[in-house]
Amino acid sequence: MKPTVLVVGGAGYIGSHVNQGLARRGYPTVVYDNLLNGHREAVKWGDFALGELADPSQLRLIFQHYRIEAVMHFAGLTSVGESMAAPDKYYANNVAATLNLLNIMREFDCRYFIFSSSAATYGLPLSVPLAEDHRQAPVNPYGQTKLMVERILSDFAAAYQLRYVALRYFNAAGADPGGEIGEDHQPETHLIPIILEVAAGRRAALSIFGDDYDTPDGTCVRDYIHVSDLAEAHILALEYLLQNQASAAFNLGNGQGYSVREVIECAEKVTGRAIRAVISARRPGDPPILVGSAARAISELGWQPSLADLTTIVTTAWRWHQGRKAPRNDS
Ligand code: UFG
Repeated sequence: MKPTVLVVGGAGYIGSHVNQGLARRGYPTVVYDNLLNGHREAVKWGDFALGELADPSQLRLIFQHYRIEAVMHFAGLTSVGESMAAPDKYYANNVAATLNLLNIMREFDCRYFIFSSSAATYGLPLSVPLAEDHRQAPVNPYGQTKLMVERILSDFAAAYQLRYVALRYFNAAGADPGGEIGEDHQPETHLIPIILEVAAGRRAALSIFGDDYDTPDGTCVRDYIHVSDLAEAHILALEYLLQNQASAAFNLGNGQGYSVREVIECAEKVTGRAIRAVISARRPGDPPILVGSAARAISELGWQPSLADLTTIVTTAWRWHQGRKAPRNDS
């Protein structure tokens, strides 16, 4: 029998894809989510429990009811821009509530933890592609919260035998190629879904946040990674933890950067539609370029991204977008 995995935030975009991947591999899962940003209908596998990450009594009930052997944590707030305007929310949810979860895990002697960290922990790159040993100096509160949790994990590993993998995601994008689940944030802040909303006629235009960066075409460069490839890496990370009993951090990216303009051009080809974009001011907290090397995940986890191509990423996102009903008002 495979170990039962608690998927905190498993009703959200990345968590739901990981929950799908775990179920396909035969791992029993329990999704714990407050459905503030997640969607109940995205939990198509395993059990579901409604609850708050910050509430120890609710979390305790889960650990009393199930024999949870590993926890994957996706219940973070993820908008860089919002974190600049409302850092209190980010520190409370991403740091304090995560500390609460780790303490409940200790109470129940649950030792394996997989954490959704971020490329945002690096800040301004001194060299690209970024490797895991690059300096971590975030330039926004969102990145700070992810780095703080990495530090907490390292201290908990030393003091309490916690074993963890921190996965530093670059830009997760795309949707389940089978079309069962996809990206659905309300409001949406991420580039690819916004571009597709314009292509679908749900938005008049998108804003390009700055075209005066020191990049080849002046717009920000990011490393886009397919969410199903990301999901696969989590399962490999779990197996790594179970086999090696050692903690580690891995970048998850494709090692190739695309500018905002290049992503728009790619989406125009995929959708066959013109996408209207207007230049606006830079978004505070945005590093000009974030591109990562996943060489460590490839060699140590045996990870092999199979949907790395940007056209594939945008195509799966577009298929999901088109298959959706009218936009909802719930979140
Ligand atoms: N962008 C626009 N217009 C928009 C939305 C985004 O120009 O309407 C630009 C942004 O300025 C940025 C790029 O598109 O340069 C990508 O922006 P996203 O908001 O899609 O993603 P971020 O790079 O800000 O952040 C994402 C995740 C974070 C993660 C980070 C790591 O949201 O959780 O990638 O690179 F940490």
